Amino acid sequence: MCGIFAYTGEKNNAPELIFEGLKSLEYRGYDSWGIAARIKEKKGFEVERNTGKLPLKNSFAKKSDFAIGHTRWATHGGVTVENAHPHLDCTKKIAVVHNGIIENYESLKKDLLKKGHKFTSDTDTEVVPHLIEEYLRKEGFASSVRDVFNLLKGFNAIVVSYAPSSEIIACKNGSPLIAGVGKEEFFLASDLSAILPHTKKVIFLNDNQMAILGKNVRIFSLPKGRQLKPKIEKIDFDPEKSSAGKYKHFMLKEIYEQPKVILNLAKNYSTQIGRLSKVIKEAKGIFLIGAGTAYHACLSGVYLFSRISKKHINTVFASEFNYLEDFLNKKSLIIALSQSGETVDVIESLDRAKEKGSKIAAVTNVLGSTIYRLSDYKFLLGAGPEKAVASTKAYTAKLSVLILLSYSLIGKGKRGKEILIETAKETERILNDKKTTGKIKQLASLISKKEHVFIIGRGLSYPSALEAALKIKEVSYIHTEGLAGGELKHGPIALISKDTPCIVFAPNDETYNSIISNATEIKARGGTIIGISFKNSSVFDHFIEVKDVNEGVYIVQVVVSQLLAYYIAIIKKLDPDKPRNLAKSVTVK
Ligand code: AGP
Repeated sequence: MCGIFAYTGEKNNAPELIFEGLKSLEYRGYDSWGIAARIKEKKGFEVERNTGKLPLKNSFAKKSDFAIGHTRWATHGGVTVENAHPHLDCTKKIAVVHNGIIENYESLKKDLLKKGHKFTSDTDTEVVPHLIEEYLRKEGFASSVRDVFNLLKGFNAIVVSYAPSSEIIACKNGSPLIAGVGKEEFFLASDLSAILPHTKKVIFLNDNQMAILGKNVRIFSLPKGRQLKPKIEKIDFDPEKSSAGKYKHFMLKEIYEQPKVILNLAKNYSTQIGRLSKVIKEAKGIFLIGAGTAYHACLSGVYLFSRISKKHINTVFASEFNYLEDFLNKKSLIIALSQSGETVDVIESLDRAKEKGSKIAAVTNVLGSTIYRLSDYKFLLGAGPEKAVASTKAYTAKLSVLILLSYSLIGKGKRGKEILIETAKETERILNDKKTTGKIKQLASLISKKEHVFIIGRGLSYPSALEAALKIKEVSYIHTEGLAGGELKHGPIALISKDTPCIVFAPNDETYNSIISNATEIKARGGTIIGISFKNSSVFDHFIEVKDVNEGVYIVQVVVSQLLAYYIAIIKKLDPDKPRNLAKSVTVK
Protein backbone atom coordinates (compact mmCIF):
# COMPACT_ATOMS: atom_id res chain seq x y z
CA MET A 1 0.00 0.00 0.00
CA CYS A 2 1.12 3.62 -0.55
CA GLY A 3 3.84 5.02 1.70
CA ILE A 4 4.04 8.65 2.81
CA PHE A 5 7.00 10.53 4.33
CA ALA A 6 7.40 14.29 4.82
CA TYR A 7 10.00 16.50 6.57
CA THR A 8 10.21 20.11 7.69
CA GLY A 9 12.97 21.40 9.93
CA GLU A 10 16.51 22.73 10.31
CA LYS A 11 18.41 20.15 8.25
CA ASN A 12 19.07 20.93 4.59
CA ASN A 13 19.29 17.32 3.40
CA ALA A 14 15.52 16.83 3.40
CA PRO A 15 15.46 14.98 0.02
CA GLU A 16 17.98 12.44 1.40
CA LEU A 17 15.89 12.00 4.57
CA ILE A 18 12.76 11.48 2.47
CA PHE A 19 14.56 8.97 0.25
CA GLU A 20 15.68 6.92 3.29
CA GLY A 21 12.19 7.14 4.73
CA LEU A 22 10.64 5.81 1.53
CA LYS A 23 13.18 2.95 1.52
CA SER A 24 11.91 1.92 4.96
CA LEU A 25 8.34 1.95 3.65
CA GLU A 26 9.13 -0.20 0.58
CA TYR A 27 7.83 -3.32 2.30
CA ARG A 28 4.29 -1.89 2.06
CA GLY A 29 4.39 -2.62 -1.66
CA TYR A 30 4.50 -0.02 -4.48
CA ASP A 31 4.96 0.41 -8.21
CA SER A 32 6.22 4.01 -8.50
CA TRP A 33 7.69 6.72 -6.26
CA GLY A 34 8.41 10.44 -6.06
CA ILE A 35 10.06 13.17 -3.99
CA ALA A 36 9.22 16.89 -4.05
CA ALA A 37 11.54 19.39 -2.35
CA ARG A 38 11.23 23.16 -1.99
CA ILE A 39 14.11 24.77 -3.77
CA LYS A 40 14.62 28.08 -1.94
CA GLU A 41 15.63 30.25 -4.83
CA LYS A 42 12.70 28.97 -6.88
CA LYS A 43 10.26 29.48 -3.94
CA GLY A 44 8.42 26.40 -5.18
CA PHE A 45 8.78 22.63 -5.42
CA GLU A 46 10.90 20.55 -7.74
CA VAL A 47 9.80 16.93 -8.23
CA GLU A 48 11.65 13.75 -9.07
CA ARG A 49 9.41 10.77 -9.86
CA ASN A 50 9.82 7.34 -11.40
CA THR A 51 8.13 4.00 -11.90
CA GLY A 52 9.51 0.76 -10.48
CA LYS A 53 11.68 0.42 -7.40
CA LEU A 54 13.57 3.22 -5.67
CA PRO A 55 17.21 3.47 -6.84
CA LEU A 56 19.96 2.25 -4.54
CA LYS A 57 21.01 5.80 -3.75
CA ASN A 58 19.12 9.07 -3.49
CA SER A 59 19.32 10.87 -6.85
CA PHE A 60 17.72 14.16 -5.78
CA ALA A 61 20.85 16.28 -5.91
CA LYS A 62 19.62 19.65 -4.64
CA LYS A 63 19.61 20.69 -0.98
CA SER A 64 16.38 21.55 0.81
CA ASP A 65 14.99 21.79 4.34
CA PHE A 66 11.44 20.96 3.27
CA ALA A 67 10.45 17.87 1.31
CA ILE A 68 7.73 15.27 0.86
CA GLY A 69 7.78 11.80 -0.67
CA HIS A 70 5.51 8.92 -1.63
CA THR A 71 5.58 5.31 -2.78
CA ARG A 72 2.48 4.64 -4.88
CA TRP A 73 0.44 1.44 -5.20
CA ALA A 74 -1.69 2.27 -8.26
CA THR A 75 -5.46 2.50 -7.86
CA HIS A 76 -6.73 5.31 -10.18
CA GLY A 77 -4.46 5.76 -13.19
CA GLY A 78 -1.85 3.31 -14.47
CA VAL A 79 1.75 2.88 -13.35
CA THR A 80 3.37 5.86 -15.11
CA VAL A 81 5.82 8.60 -14.11
CA GLU A 82 3.07 11.21 -14.59
CA ASN A 83 0.77 9.40 -12.15
CA ALA A 84 3.44 9.06 -9.46
CA HIS A 85 3.07 11.38 -6.44
CA PRO A 86 3.75 14.09 -5.26
CA HIS A 87 1.34 16.14 -7.36
CA LEU A 88 1.65 19.94 -7.67
CA ASP A 89 -0.76 22.79 -8.34
CA CYS A 90 -0.30 25.20 -11.27
CA THR A 91 1.95 27.53 -9.20
CA LYS A 92 4.20 24.62 -8.02
CA LYS A 93 3.95 26.00 -4.48
CA ILE A 94 1.68 23.19 -3.24
CA ALA A 95 2.83 19.56 -3.18
CA VAL A 96 0.43 16.76 -2.23
CA VAL A 97 0.74 13.04 -1.53
CA HIS A 98 -2.27 10.85 -0.86
CA ASN A 99 -3.29 7.41 0.32
CA GLY A 100 -6.83 6.16 -0.38
CA ILE A 101 -9.47 6.71 -3.10
CA ILE A 102 -11.24 10.05 -3.72
CA GLU A 103 -14.60 8.68 -4.83
CA ASN A 104 -15.91 12.04 -6.17
CA TYR A 105 -12.76 13.14 -8.01
CA GLU A 106 -14.31 13.21 -11.49
CA SER A 107 -16.83 15.95 -10.65
CA LEU A 108 -14.16 17.93 -8.78
CA LYS A 109 -11.77 17.61 -11.74
CA LYS A 110 -14.44 18.74 -14.20
CA ASP A 111 -15.00 22.00 -12.26
CA LEU A 112 -11.26 22.64 -12.02
CA LEU A 113 -10.75 22.10 -15.75
CA LYS A 114 -13.49 24.65 -16.40
CA LYS A 115 -11.51 27.11 -14.26
CA GLY A 116 -8.47 26.58 -16.46
CA HIS A 117 -6.39 24.26 -14.27
CA LYS A 118 -3.87 22.13 -16.16
CA PHE A 119 -3.69 18.42 -15.18
CA THR A 120 -0.72 16.22 -15.96
CA SER A 121 -1.96 12.86 -14.61
CA ASP A 122 -4.96 10.48 -14.63
CA THR A 123 -4.99 10.20 -10.86
CA ASP A 124 -7.76 11.12 -8.43
CA THR A 125 -5.09 12.70 -6.19
CA GLU A 126 -4.19 15.56 -8.53
CA VAL A 127 -7.48 17.36 -7.83
CA VAL A 128 -6.24 18.13 -4.30
CA PRO A 129 -3.37 20.61 -5.02
CA HIS A 130 -5.49 22.42 -7.60
CA LEU A 131 -8.48 22.68 -5.22
CA ILE A 132 -6.19 24.08 -2.50
CA GLU A 133 -4.81 26.55 -5.05
CA GLU A 134 -8.39 27.68 -5.72
CA TYR A 135 -9.28 28.02 -1.99
CA LEU A 136 -6.02 29.89 -1.28
CA ARG A 137 -7.36 32.70 -3.43
CA LYS A 138 -9.86 33.51 -0.66
CA GLU A 139 -8.57 31.97 2.60
CA GLY A 140 -5.47 30.85 4.53
CA PHE A 141 -3.47 27.68 3.96
CA ALA A 142 -4.78 25.66 6.92
CA SER A 143 -8.45 26.48 6.33
CA SER A 144 -8.02 25.85 2.58
CA VAL A 145 -6.66 22.36 3.25
CA ARG A 146 -9.41 21.63 5.77
CA ASP A 147 -12.19 22.82 3.46
CA VAL A 148 -10.77 20.86 0.53
CA PHE A 149 -10.38 17.68 2.61
CA ASN A 150 -14.00 17.98 3.71
CA LEU A 151 -15.00 17.94 0.02
CA LEU A 152 -13.34 14.54 -0.57
CA LYS A 153 -15.50 11.40 -0.39
CA GLY A 154 -14.10 7.96 0.58
CA PHE A 155 -11.30 6.81 2.89
CA ASN A 156 -8.35 9.19 2.43
CA ALA A 157 -5.19 10.52 4.00
CA ILE A 158 -3.55 13.57 2.43
CA VAL A 159 -0.29 15.34 3.27
CA VAL A 160 0.12 18.83 1.86
CA SER A 161 3.31 20.90 1.81
CA TYR A 162 3.11 24.65 1.12
CA ALA A 163 6.38 26.26 -0.02
CA PRO A 164 5.84 29.81 1.34
CA SER A 165 5.02 28.59 4.89
CA SER A 166 7.31 25.52 5.35
CA GLU A 167 4.24 23.94 6.89
CA ILE A 168 3.09 20.37 6.38
CA ILE A 169 -0.60 19.70 6.88
CA ALA A 170 -2.05 16.20 7.16
CA CYS A 171 -5.71 15.17 7.18
CA LYS A 172 -7.03 11.62 7.46
CA ASN A 173 -10.18 9.57 7.66
CA GLY A 174 -8.80 6.12 6.96
CA SER A 175 -5.23 5.13 5.97
CA PRO A 176 -2.77 5.58 8.81
CA LEU A 177 -0.71 8.74 9.47
CA ILE A 178 1.78 9.32 12.26
CA ALA A 179 3.52 12.60 13.16
CA GLY A 180 7.09 12.50 14.48
CA VAL A 181 8.17 15.28 16.90
CA GLY A 182 11.90 15.97 16.74
CA LYS A 183 14.11 18.82 17.99
CA GLU A 184 13.23 21.80 15.72
CA GLU A 185 12.02 19.33 13.09
CA PHE A 186 8.86 17.39 12.31
CA PHE A 187 8.02 14.31 10.31
CA LEU A 188 4.88 12.69 8.92
CA ALA A 189 4.74 9.07 7.80
CA SER A 190 2.45 6.16 7.05
CA ASP A 191 4.07 4.05 9.75
CA LEU A 192 6.60 4.09 12.53
CA SER A 193 9.49 2.54 10.60
CA ALA A 194 10.18 5.83 8.72
CA ILE A 195 10.02 8.02 11.83
CA LEU A 196 11.78 6.03 14.55
CA PRO A 197 15.33 6.45 13.22
CA HIS A 198 14.78 10.21 13.85
CA THR A 199 12.60 10.48 16.93
CA LYS A 200 10.71 8.23 19.34
CA LYS A 201 8.14 10.93 20.13
CA VAL A 202 5.10 10.35 17.96
CA ILE A 203 1.46 11.33 17.61
CA PHE A 204 -0.94 8.77 16.10
CA LEU A 205 -3.46 10.79 14.12
CA ASN A 206 -7.05 9.67 14.56
CA ASP A 207 -9.65 9.66 11.82
CA ASN A 208 -11.14 13.08 11.03
CA GLN A 209 -8.16 14.93 12.46
CA MET A 210 -5.86 17.50 10.88
CA ALA A 211 -2.24 18.04 11.96
CA ILE A 212 -0.24 21.18 11.19
CA LEU A 213 3.53 20.76 11.52
CA GLY A 214 5.86 23.75 11.13
CA LYS A 215 7.15 25.76 14.06
CA ASN A 216 5.24 23.37 16.38
CA VAL A 217 2.57 20.65 16.25
CA ARG A 218 -1.08 21.59 16.23
CA ILE A 219 -3.97 19.11 15.99
CA PHE A 220 -7.53 19.97 14.97
CA SER A 221 -10.72 17.97 14.68
CA LEU A 222 -12.31 17.84 11.21
CA PRO A 223 -14.68 19.08 9.83
CA LYS A 224 -15.29 21.86 12.42
CA GLY A 225 -11.65 22.69 13.08
CA ARG A 226 -11.67 22.61 16.89
CA GLN A 227 -8.09 22.60 18.27
CA LEU A 228 -7.16 19.47 20.26
CA LYS A 229 -4.32 18.77 22.70
CA PRO A 230 -1.68 16.67 20.88
CA LYS A 231 -1.19 13.25 22.53
CA ILE A 232 2.58 12.70 22.23
CA GLU A 233 3.60 9.07 22.88
CA LYS A 234 7.12 7.73 23.42
CA ILE A 235 7.87 4.51 21.51
CA ASP A 236 10.55 2.22 22.96
CA PHE A 237 11.13 0.40 19.72
CA ASP A 238 14.42 -0.75 18.29
CA PRO A 239 14.53 0.25 14.58
CA GLU A 240 17.27 -2.22 13.67
CA LYS A 241 14.88 -5.08 14.59
CA SER A 242 13.38 -4.15 11.28
CA SER A 243 16.54 -5.05 9.32
CA ALA A 244 16.91 -8.54 7.82
CA GLY A 245 20.21 -8.97 9.69
CA LYS A 246 21.98 -12.25 8.84
CA TYR A 247 19.07 -13.40 6.64
CA LYS A 248 18.90 -12.77 2.92
CA HIS A 249 15.25 -11.74 3.10
CA PHE A 250 12.78 -10.49 5.71
CA MET A 251 10.52 -13.45 4.92
CA LEU A 252 13.24 -15.95 5.94
CA LYS A 253 14.08 -13.93 9.06
CA GLU A 254 10.44 -13.81 10.08
CA ILE A 255 9.97 -17.55 9.46
CA TYR A 256 12.92 -18.26 11.76
CA GLU A 257 11.63 -15.87 14.43
CA GLN A 258 8.51 -17.98 14.95
CA PRO A 259 9.74 -20.28 17.75
CA LYS A 260 10.61 -17.19 19.80
CA VAL A 261 7.28 -15.50 19.02
CA ILE A 262 5.27 -18.61 19.99
CA LEU A 263 7.26 -19.07 23.20
CA ASN A 264 6.81 -15.42 24.14
CA LEU A 265 3.03 -15.75 23.77
CA ALA A 266 3.06 -18.95 25.83
CA LYS A 267 5.03 -17.42 28.68
CA ASN A 268 4.07 -13.75 28.91
CA TYR A 269 0.44 -13.26 27.93
CA SER A 270 -1.65 -14.66 30.77
CA THR A 271 -3.20 -11.31 31.72
CA GLN A 272 -4.14 -10.36 28.18
CA ILE A 273 -5.51 -13.87 27.48
CA GLY A 274 -7.49 -13.82 30.71
CA ARG A 275 -8.99 -10.43 29.89
CA LEU A 276 -10.01 -11.40 26.34
CA SER A 277 -11.43 -14.79 27.35
CA LYS A 278 -13.60 -13.04 29.95
CA VAL A 279 -15.00 -10.77 27.21
CA ILE A 280 -15.64 -13.81 25.01
CA LYS A 281 -17.50 -15.59 27.81
CA GLU A 282 -19.82 -12.57 28.30
CA ALA A 283 -20.63 -12.10 24.61
CA LYS A 284 -23.70 -13.49 22.86
CA GLY A 285 -22.73 -14.17 19.27
CA ILE A 286 -19.07 -13.94 18.35
CA PHE A 287 -17.63 -13.26 14.91
CA LEU A 288 -13.99 -13.61 13.94
CA ILE A 289 -13.13 -11.45 10.90
CA GLY A 290 -9.96 -11.01 8.89
CA ALA A 291 -8.60 -10.90 5.35
CA GLY A 292 -6.26 -13.23 3.49
CA THR A 293 -3.92 -14.96 5.91
CA ALA A 294 -5.71 -13.40 8.85
CA TYR A 295 -8.94 -14.98 7.63
CA HIS A 296 -7.26 -18.39 7.62
CA ALA A 297 -6.38 -17.81 11.27
CA CYS A 298 -10.05 -16.89 11.90
CA LEU A 299 -11.18 -20.15 10.28
CA SER A 300 -8.71 -22.08 12.48
CA GLY A 301 -10.25 -20.26 15.43
CA VAL A 302 -13.72 -21.62 14.64
CA TYR A 303 -12.39 -25.19 14.72
CA LEU A 304 -10.29 -24.58 17.85
CA PHE A 305 -13.13 -22.99 19.84
CA SER A 306 -15.43 -25.83 18.87
CA ARG A 307 -12.92 -28.64 19.49
CA ILE A 308 -11.45 -27.33 22.76
CA SER A 309 -13.97 -24.92 24.28
CA LYS A 310 -17.13 -26.54 22.80
CA LYS A 311 -18.06 -22.98 21.80
CA HIS A 312 -19.75 -22.05 18.54
CA ILE A 313 -18.36 -18.93 16.91
CA ASN A 314 -18.64 -17.70 13.34
CA THR A 315 -16.22 -16.35 10.79
CA VAL A 316 -16.36 -14.78 7.37
CA PHE A 317 -14.03 -12.75 5.17
CA ALA A 318 -13.92 -9.17 6.46
CA SER A 319 -14.76 -8.03 2.92
CA GLU A 320 -17.95 -10.13 3.05
CA PHE A 321 -18.92 -9.21 6.61
CA ASN A 322 -20.46 -5.94 5.40
CA TYR A 323 -23.18 -8.00 3.68
CA LEU A 324 -23.78 -10.23 6.67
CA GLU A 325 -23.85 -8.01 9.72
CA ASP A 326 -27.56 -7.05 9.87
CA PHE A 327 -28.06 -9.42 12.82
CA LEU A 328 -25.46 -7.65 15.01
CA ASN A 329 -26.60 -6.17 18.34
CA LYS A 330 -25.18 -4.72 21.56
CA LYS A 331 -24.28 -8.19 22.88
CA SER A 332 -22.30 -9.18 19.78
CA LEU A 333 -18.52 -9.37 19.91
CA ILE A 334 -16.44 -8.91 16.78
CA ILE A 335 -12.85 -10.14 17.07
CA ALA A 336 -10.73 -8.65 14.30
CA LEU A 337 -7.46 -10.36 13.39
CA SER A 338 -5.10 -8.12 11.45
CA GLN A 339 -1.30 -7.99 11.38
CA SER A 340 -1.08 -4.42 10.05
CA GLY A 341 -4.20 -3.18 11.81
CA GLU A 342 -4.93 -1.11 8.67
CA THR A 343 -6.86 -3.46 6.38
CA VAL A 344 -9.74 -1.40 5.08
CA ASP A 345 -12.10 -4.41 4.72
CA VAL A 346 -11.72 -4.97 8.45
CA ILE A 347 -11.97 -1.27 9.39
CA GLU A 348 -15.20 -0.85 7.43
CA SER A 349 -16.75 -3.91 9.08
CA LEU A 350 -15.75 -2.69 12.53
CA ASP A 351 -17.18 0.78 11.89
CA ARG A 352 -20.51 -0.85 10.95
CA ALA A 353 -20.40 -3.13 14.01
CA LYS A 354 -19.74 -0.15 16.30
CA GLU A 355 -22.78 1.61 14.83
CA LYS A 356 -24.80 -1.41 16.02
CA GLY A 357 -23.31 -1.07 19.53
CA SER A 358 -21.32 -4.33 19.23
CA LYS A 359 -18.10 -4.73 21.18
CA ILE A 360 -14.84 -4.88 19.22
CA ALA A 361 -11.71 -6.84 20.10
CA ALA A 362 -8.57 -6.46 18.00
CA VAL A 363 -5.69 -8.91 17.73
CA THR A 364 -3.07 -6.91 15.82
CA ASN A 365 0.70 -6.65 15.51
CA VAL A 366 1.01 -2.86 15.16
CA LEU A 367 0.73 -0.56 18.17
CA GLY A 368 -1.37 2.49 17.37
CA SER A 369 -2.78 1.06 14.15
CA THR A 370 -6.29 2.09 13.16
CA ILE A 371 -7.87 -1.25 14.15
CA TYR A 372 -5.91 -1.24 17.42
CA ARG A 373 -7.20 2.22 18.26
CA LEU A 374 -10.83 1.75 17.31
CA SER A 375 -11.23 -1.44 19.36
CA ASP A 376 -12.62 -1.79 22.89
CA TYR A 377 -10.26 -4.68 23.73
CA LYS A 378 -6.72 -4.47 22.33
CA PHE A 379 -4.43 -7.48 22.03
CA LEU A 380 -0.92 -6.87 20.64
CA LEU A 381 0.68 -10.00 19.18
CA GLY A 382 4.18 -8.80 20.10
CA ALA A 383 5.61 -10.65 17.08
CA GLY A 384 7.90 -7.73 16.19
CA PRO A 385 7.79 -5.87 12.87
CA GLU A 386 6.67 -8.11 10.01
CA LYS A 387 8.16 -6.53 6.88
CA ALA A 388 7.75 -9.26 4.26
CA VAL A 389 4.48 -8.90 2.37
CA ALA A 390 3.78 -12.60 2.91
CA SER A 391 2.63 -12.94 6.49
CA THR A 392 4.33 -15.72 8.45
CA LYS A 393 5.09 -15.07 12.14
CA ALA A 394 1.95 -12.95 12.54
CA TYR A 395 -0.11 -15.92 11.33
CA THR A 396 1.39 -18.43 13.73
CA ALA A 397 1.16 -15.82 16.49
CA LYS A 398 -2.58 -15.49 15.84
CA LEU A 399 -3.01 -19.28 15.97
CA SER A 400 -1.03 -19.37 19.21
CA VAL A 401 -3.36 -16.75 20.72
CA LEU A 402 -6.43 -18.72 19.58
CA ILE A 403 -5.05 -21.92 21.15
CA LEU A 404 -4.38 -20.09 24.42
CA LEU A 405 -7.86 -18.50 24.35
CA SER A 406 -9.69 -21.76 23.65
CA TYR A 407 -7.96 -23.51 26.57
CA SER A 408 -8.37 -20.50 28.84
CA LEU A 409 -12.14 -20.52 28.17
CA ILE A 410 -12.40 -23.96 29.84
CA GLY A 411 -10.06 -23.07 32.71
CA LYS A 412 -7.13 -24.99 31.24
CA GLY A 413 -4.85 -22.07 30.38
CA LYS A 414 -1.81 -24.01 31.64
CA ARG A 415 -2.46 -26.77 29.11
CA GLY A 416 -2.56 -24.23 26.30
CA LYS A 417 0.83 -22.89 27.35
CA GLU A 418 2.33 -26.38 27.54
CA ILE A 419 1.15 -27.11 24.00
CA LEU A 420 2.69 -23.88 22.69
CA ILE A 421 5.99 -24.59 24.43
CA GLU A 422 6.08 -28.00 22.71
CA THR A 423 5.08 -26.33 19.43
CA ALA A 424 7.92 -23.79 19.65
CA LYS A 425 10.36 -26.66 20.26
CA GLU A 426 9.11 -28.68 17.27
CA THR A 427 9.19 -25.57 15.05
CA GLU A 428 12.76 -24.89 16.16
CA ARG A 429 13.72 -28.53 15.46
CA ILE A 430 12.34 -28.47 11.93
CA LEU A 431 13.83 -25.09 11.02
CA ASN A 432 17.28 -26.15 12.24
CA ASP A 433 17.26 -29.75 11.01
CA LYS A 434 19.45 -29.78 7.90
CA LYS A 435 17.87 -33.05 6.70
CA THR A 436 14.37 -31.56 6.83
CA THR A 437 15.27 -28.20 5.32
CA GLY A 438 17.26 -30.06 2.65
CA LYS A 439 14.17 -32.09 1.78
CA ILE A 440 12.09 -28.88 1.66
CA LYS A 441 14.58 -27.36 -0.81
CA GLN A 442 14.36 -30.48 -3.01
CA LEU A 443 10.57 -30.26 -2.99
CA ALA A 444 10.82 -26.57 -3.83
CA SER A 445 12.90 -27.46 -6.87
CA LEU A 446 10.32 -30.05 -7.97
CA ILE A 447 7.36 -27.70 -7.48
CA SER A 448 9.08 -24.66 -9.03
CA LYS A 449 8.72 -26.31 -12.47
CA LYS A 450 4.97 -26.96 -12.05
CA GLU A 451 2.01 -24.84 -13.12
CA HIS A 452 -0.53 -26.16 -10.62
CA VAL A 453 -0.23 -27.36 -7.03
CA PHE A 454 -2.97 -28.71 -4.73
CA ILE A 455 -2.93 -28.82 -0.95
CA ILE A 456 -5.49 -30.80 1.02
CA GLY A 457 -6.39 -31.05 4.68
CA ARG A 458 -9.40 -31.87 6.82
CA GLY A 459 -10.62 -30.34 10.07
CA LEU A 460 -8.02 -27.93 11.45
CA SER A 461 -5.68 -28.88 8.61
CA TYR A 462 -8.13 -27.37 6.13
CA PRO A 463 -7.33 -23.72 7.09
CA SER A 464 -3.68 -24.82 7.08
CA ALA A 465 -4.15 -25.99 3.47
CA LEU A 466 -5.66 -22.62 2.54
CA GLU A 467 -2.82 -20.73 4.22
CA ALA A 468 -0.10 -22.93 2.72
CA ALA A 469 -1.63 -22.41 -0.72
CA LEU A 470 -1.72 -18.63 -0.26
CA LYS A 471 1.95 -18.57 0.75
CA ILE A 472 3.06 -20.51 -2.34
CA LYS A 473 0.92 -18.54 -4.77
CA GLU A 474 1.77 -15.08 -3.42
CA VAL A 475 5.56 -15.46 -3.44
CA SER A 476 6.10 -17.90 -6.35
CA TYR A 477 3.13 -16.96 -8.61
CA ILE A 478 2.36 -20.69 -9.13
CA HIS A 479 -1.37 -21.45 -9.14
CA THR A 480 -1.87 -23.28 -5.83
CA GLU A 481 -5.23 -24.37 -4.49
CA GLY A 482 -6.00 -25.28 -0.89
CA LEU A 483 -8.90 -27.69 -0.51
CA ALA A 484 -10.90 -29.50 2.14
CA GLY A 485 -9.94 -33.14 1.51
CA GLY A 486 -13.55 -34.24 1.41
CA GLU A 487 -14.31 -31.78 -1.40
CA LEU A 488 -11.85 -33.27 -3.92
CA LYS A 489 -14.31 -35.83 -5.29
CA HIS A 490 -16.96 -33.10 -5.78
CA GLY A 491 -15.09 -31.57 -8.71
CA PRO A 492 -11.46 -30.51 -8.17
CA ILE A 493 -10.14 -34.07 -8.67
CA ALA A 494 -10.91 -33.55 -12.36
CA LEU A 495 -7.84 -31.29 -12.40
CA ILE A 496 -5.44 -34.00 -11.25
CA SER A 497 -3.24 -35.39 -13.99
CA LYS A 498 0.10 -37.20 -14.15
CA ASP A 499 2.70 -35.75 -11.76
CA THR A 500 0.38 -33.03 -10.42
CA PRO A 501 1.93 -32.27 -7.02
CA CYS A 502 -0.41 -32.51 -4.05
CA ILE A 503 0.65 -31.63 -0.51
CA VAL A 504 -1.28 -33.61 2.09
CA PHE A 505 -1.56 -32.52 5.74
CA ALA A 506 -2.00 -35.78 7.69
CA PRO A 507 -1.51 -35.08 11.40
CA ASN A 508 -2.20 -37.58 14.17
CA ASP A 509 -5.82 -36.53 14.63
CA GLU A 510 -9.35 -37.63 13.76
CA THR A 511 -8.84 -36.76 10.09
CA TYR A 512 -5.88 -39.08 9.46
CA ASN A 513 -7.55 -42.10 7.83
CA SER A 514 -9.87 -39.99 5.65
CA ILE A 515 -7.15 -37.68 4.38
CA ILE A 516 -4.94 -40.68 3.55
CA SER A 517 -7.86 -42.05 1.49
CA ASN A 518 -8.07 -38.71 -0.33
CA ALA A 519 -4.33 -38.90 -1.02
CA THR A 520 -4.83 -42.39 -2.42
CA GLU A 521 -7.55 -41.10 -4.76
CA ILE A 522 -5.14 -38.45 -6.09
CA LYS A 523 -2.30 -40.95 -6.45
CA ALA A 524 -4.57 -43.31 -8.40
CA ARG A 525 -4.88 -40.53 -10.97
CA GLY A 526 -1.15 -39.97 -11.33
CA GLY A 527 -0.68 -37.23 -8.77
CA THR A 528 2.57 -36.88 -6.78
CA ILE A 529 1.88 -36.99 -3.05
CA ILE A 530 3.91 -34.89 -0.60
CA GLY A 531 2.96 -36.00 2.90
CA ILE A 532 3.41 -33.62 5.85
CA SER A 533 2.65 -35.95 8.72
CA PHE A 534 3.74 -37.50 12.06
CA LYS A 535 4.62 -40.75 10.24
CA ASN A 536 5.43 -41.91 6.70
CA SER A 537 2.89 -43.76 4.57
CA SER A 538 3.06 -45.92 1.43
CA VAL A 539 0.88 -43.36 -0.34
CA PHE A 540 3.51 -40.63 0.10
CA ASP A 541 6.04 -40.06 -2.69
CA HIS A 542 7.77 -37.53 -0.44
CA PHE A 543 7.50 -37.17 3.33
CA ILE A 544 8.27 -34.39 5.79
CA GLU A 545 7.94 -35.37 9.44
CA VAL A 546 6.07 -33.05 11.79
CA LYS A 547 5.90 -34.54 15.28
CA ASP A 548 2.58 -34.64 17.12
CA VAL A 549 2.26 -31.53 19.31
CA ASN A 550 -1.53 -31.61 19.73
CA GLU A 551 -3.18 -28.44 18.35
CA GLY A 552 0.26 -26.97 17.78
CA VAL A 553 0.65 -29.23 14.77
CA TYR A 554 -1.57 -26.87 12.75
CA ILE A 555 1.08 -24.22 13.30
CA VAL A 556 4.08 -26.39 12.49
CA GLN A 557 2.66 -27.80 9.25
CA VAL A 558 2.20 -24.22 8.00
CA VAL A 559 5.76 -23.30 8.97
CA VAL A 560 6.98 -26.12 6.70
CA SER A 561 4.81 -24.66 3.90
CA GLN A 562 6.18 -21.14 4.49
CA LEU A 563 9.75 -22.40 4.07
CA LEU A 564 8.71 -24.36 0.98
CA ALA A 565 7.09 -21.23 -0.52
CA TYR A 566 10.21 -19.18 0.27
CA TYR A 567 12.56 -21.63 -1.47
CA ILE A 568 10.30 -21.93 -4.52
CA ALA A 569 10.47 -18.13 -4.89
CA ILE A 570 14.27 -18.19 -4.53
CA ILE A 571 14.63 -20.95 -7.14
CA LYS A 572 12.42 -18.91 -9.48
CA LYS A 573 14.65 -15.87 -8.80
CA LEU A 574 11.76 -13.85 -7.41
CA ASP A 575 11.85 -11.39 -4.50
CA PRO A 576 9.93 -13.16 -1.71
CA ASP A 577 9.71 -9.95 0.35
CA LYS A 578 8.01 -7.85 -2.31
CA PRO A 579 5.82 -10.01 -4.56
CA ARG A 580 4.37 -8.33 -7.64
CA ASN A 581 0.98 -6.57 -7.32
CA LEU A 582 0.84 -7.15 -3.54
CA ALA A 583 1.01 -4.72 -0.62
CA LYS A 584 1.76 -5.33 3.04
CA SER A 585 -1.24 -3.46 4.29
CA VAL A 586 -4.24 -3.15 2.01
CA THR A 587 -5.81 0.20 2.85
CA VAL A 588 -8.00 0.42 -0.27
CA LYS A 589 -11.10 -1.65 -1.10
C1 AGP B 1 -0.70 -12.60 3.70
O1 AGP B 1 0.48 -13.30 3.35
C2 AGP B 1 -1.06 -11.57 2.69
N1 AGP B 1 -0.03 -10.61 2.59
C3 AGP B 1 -2.44 -10.97 2.92
O2 AGP B 1 -3.38 -12.00 2.70
C4 AGP B 1 -2.71 -10.40 4.32
O3 AGP B 1 -2.79 -11.44 5.27
C5 AGP B 1 -4.05 -9.66 4.30
O4 AGP B 1 -3.92 -8.57 3.42
C6 AGP B 1 -4.49 -9.17 5.69
O5 AGP B 1 -3.53 -8.31 6.20
P1 AGP B 1 -3.62 -7.89 7.76
O6 AGP B 1 -3.35 -9.13 8.58
O7 AGP B 1 -2.56 -6.85 7.92
O8 AGP B 1 -5.02 -7.37 8.01
